[in-house]
Amino acid sequence: MTRKAVYFGALLEQRLSRRGFLAASGAAAATGALPALGAGAQTTHSAKAKSYAALAPSLEDTLRLSPGLRSQVVVGFGDPLFEGDPGLTTRDLRTLEWLDRDAATRQERRFGTNNDALAFFPMRGRRDAGLLCVNHEYVDELVFAGLSGSESDQARQVAAMIAARPQTVAWMQAAHGVSVLEVRRGMRGWRVVRGASATRRITANTPMEISGPARGAALLRTSADPTGTRVLGTFANCAGGKTPWGTYLTAEENIQDYFGGARTWAGSADADEATTRAHRRWPLRERSAYGWDTVDPRFDVRREPREALRHGWIVEIDPQDPTMAPRKRTALGRFCHEGANTILTKDGRVAAYMGDDAKFEYVYKFVSRDRFDPKDRAANRDLLDHGTLHVARFDADGRGEWLPLVHDERGPLNSAAGFASQAEVVIRCREAADLLGATPMDRPEDVEPSPVTGRVYMALTKNDSRAPERRDFMGRNIDLGPNAANPRPKNDFGHIVELIEDGDDASSLRFAWNVFLLAGDPRDGAARFLTRAEDLAAGQLAREDVYFAGYADRGAVSPIACPDNLGFDPSGRLWVVTDADTRLIGNNGCFVVPTIGPDRGRLTQVLSAPVGAEVCGCEFTPDGKTLFLSIQHPGEGGTVDAPVSHWPDGGGLPARSAVIAVSREDGAPL
Ligand code: FEO
Ligand code: CA
Ligand code: CA
Ligand code: CA
Repeated sequence: MTRKAVYFGALLEQRLSRRGFLAASGAAAATGALPALGAGAQTTHSAKAKSYAALAPSLEDTLRLSPGLRSQVVVGFGDPLFEGDPGLTTRDLRTLEWLDRDAATRQERRFGTNNDALAFFPMRGRRDAGLLCVNHEYVDELVFAGLSGSESDQARQVAAMIAARPQTVAWMQAAHGVSVLEVRRGMRGWRVVRGASATRRITANTPMEISGPARGAALLRTSADPTGTRVLGTFANCAGGKTPWGTYLTAEENIQDYFGGARTWAGSADADEATTRAHRRWPLRERSAYGWDTVDPRFDVRREPREALRHGWIVEIDPQDPTMAPRKRTALGRFCHEGANTILTKDGRVAAYMGDDAKFEYVYKFVSRDRFDPKDRAANRDLLDHGTLHVARFDADGRGEWLPLVHDERGPLNSAAGFASQAEVVIRCREAADLLGATPMDRPEDVEPSPVTGRVYMALTKNDSRAPERRDFMGRNIDLGPNAANPRPKNDFGHIVELIEDGDDASSLRFAWNVFLLAGDPRDGAARFLTRAEDLAAGQLAREDVYFAGYADRGAVSPIACPDNLGFDPSGRLWVVTDADTRLIGNNGCFVVPTIGPDRGRLTQVLSAPVGAEVCGCEFTPDGKTLFLSIQHPGEGGTVDAPVSHWPDGGGLPARSAVIAVSREDGAPL
């Protein structure tokens, strides 16, 4: 441990204690500079937080946990959500017999595929019961028996399967979306209450409302919905979030993979200028990834060129009201939404932080116009329809600005620039953000404010295209080189940026920021283990260099690659789950890291996932005793017939995605 780093840690201990003392952050000017702190500060979580023995990276096909922790499977793909249904088991998957004409109808009552984000809503007055909302992001080849060969071989085989069994598409659509279920904690852990009154499956065909500034916009009208106000379904639901009034926000991410025929349409006489422009910064494919367009015309761009514009939004779902149509909240912009994590501003409005998970895309913040009313739930129903969407610019001096994405004939987003309305700004959100000079980031995944300090953490998962050159990229010409907030070339391992709003207020337009973590493998002899913020300047870093918020003990931090979802336990420690190519470091995992106190930056791996899986979710119960995680796509790289993972069912069966609950063996908060 170097003398300098010891000092840095001690300084942070003094400075970063609790939210009320972060008010002077506006004074922090240099990269990594941190706000001064008033007298009388107390340390919060660092002194009493439990520590865990770090797990070494693993390639074993088991779910491993640090000593003192245990886990259970709560619910997994195919499990019945209602009574009287045997569910779809991994035993059933060994043939295609289950994929008959009624498969979609059955799937609409079962837990979907590839669970990703999840959110827990405690039931009033109950410590051990709540509603769980879970995203089902996509369907992969790991459910269809008989596939083999390369990825493209398998894609061809799936296309042939769809031709032979067109019901495959309806089944896939039913396996997407969101599950809402009731869970209870008993002697044997958490279990699903089948058929509880809130139980609901939302799929790629569930009717929803379009609300906010793009409701009714010409670009959102299709032959099935000439009003541009009603849309079927949600899919590609990746991360998510919760509102202070207890609703779920699900994020539509890689919707471009679901549509086909885009090139043919673009070259045809049907391609109108407004729709073409709306697709420019978020191009669709000629050959869809899932083949839905071969059966369902709304996914064929030649038939419905504007259907895709009705997806790529944040969707609000009220888990307490199974009759309410989900609402696509267009005020929050259209892009590869990774999540929407909320916090209240000082004057009681709601701010939602969001990432656009694609290379060289942006970080966003929405701030509502109106205040949250904690006493009247119904009054908050449409808070997310009115407010200001912003995009972030990170400056080299460690400061930054939230740039308002507002249509204004006197401002940059006006008719002369091609934006005739706020509807066009939110639909062509990336293009509007380009015009304002937003900073292109290394694939922003979760952007999450700490409920304890108010500081915001953003997982920049990776970007292997970060290189010093200027060229066309995704519909615009930009500099792809490292910048202050994305300082590493060929960023295979990803990083985390910490953002401190001026005045510690989520409604601020200015902020300070610093690099919190440069992920990588500190065991790698070629890696420089950096401890000073001034070492992180763009252009001076190599792909392998690592940095753990200044923490100086190289042997005490865990290797990590590709941070994805983030969460906070009630004491304020940051939990990080990963989605990396397992050849980088090993199987994906869950990590915990203090953000304040002497252990700031001391990252510890506490969970190692089975082969092929990414870990997502990262949601604590309010008592801090349970951490819900998603184990998504275990067995990726194998097939049903030749599985590379057997988690969680074992016995030689193929793997399946599932939600797990992690707790301490002694029952204390994590
Ligand atoms: Fe679906 Fe950005 O991860
Ligand atoms: Ca995912
Ligand atoms: Ca993700
Ligand atoms: Ca990811």
